[in-house]
Amino acid sequence: MCLTMVSLLLPGFLLLLLFCVCHRPVGAKRQEPVASPENDSTRLRGLWKLHMRDSLLKGKGSSPHPIREGPKQQLLYCRVGIGYHLQILPNGSVGGVHKPTEYSWLKMFAIKHGVVGIKGVKSGLYLCMSGQGLAHGVEQFSDNCLLKENLEENHYTTYSSLSHPGIYLALSHKGDLRKGSSVGRHQSCTHFLPRRTP
Ligand SMILES: *[C@@H]1O[C@H](CO)[C@@H](O)[C@H](O)[C@H]1NC(C)=O
Ligand SMILES: *[C@@H]1O[C@H](CO)[C@@H](O)[C@H](O)[C@H]1NC(C)=O
Repeated sequence: MCLTMVSLLLPGFLLLLLFCVCHRPVGAKRQEPVASPENDSTRLRGLWKLHMRDSLLKGKGSSPHPIREGPKQQLLYCRVGIGYHLQILPNGSVGGVHKPTEYSWLKMFAIKHGVVGIKGVKSGLYLCMSGQGLAHGVEQFSDNCLLKENLEENHYTTYSSLSHPGIYLALSHKGDLRKGSSVGRHQSCTHFLPRRTP
């Protein structure tokens, strides 16, 4: 008797359950705003934090030289003018020098496909882009430090801000930092080449 009741009620119960399961995501979706670039970069920053934590954990492992486990140091050569190497000075200034200095050594971290972070090895500062188009070294990694990496047809790489689209990392013919909002990916001032040796 009891069993019959259960078997009679069960299909209805299952239907109700199905109804709830099917309708919940729709209701939830309506409340959440559509994915925005801002939210995308929040998610990326989360990934970055995970990446950093992983690196730190790896560093605490058995290896006596944790630094060797991070990304390799490299230079970023810009082909504008006589050719310059990017540098990040301790006061946050970003510019280029023809002959690499100790501030020209950088570490590049892949955050996800096509998105990187750049850190000056000596200054310890991250290369970030302001909404005004200027690059500067910053202690704290933020959305402004997420850089889109694009391999151009000439095999040079351009770096542009993920949170401020259309703003490129660029140097002038004299090697000074150029405002990244007035330049484009087809100009040599935005063309960089990562290299491992001077
Ligand atoms: C990003 O998502 C959160 C919830 O996940 C929401 O509160 C916030 O308003 C969203 N931001 C934008 C700009 O859509
Ligand atoms: C940083 O230091 C360099 C070299 O000492 C100097 O030329 C530049 O003006 C300084 N930048 C800032 C923002 O203080």
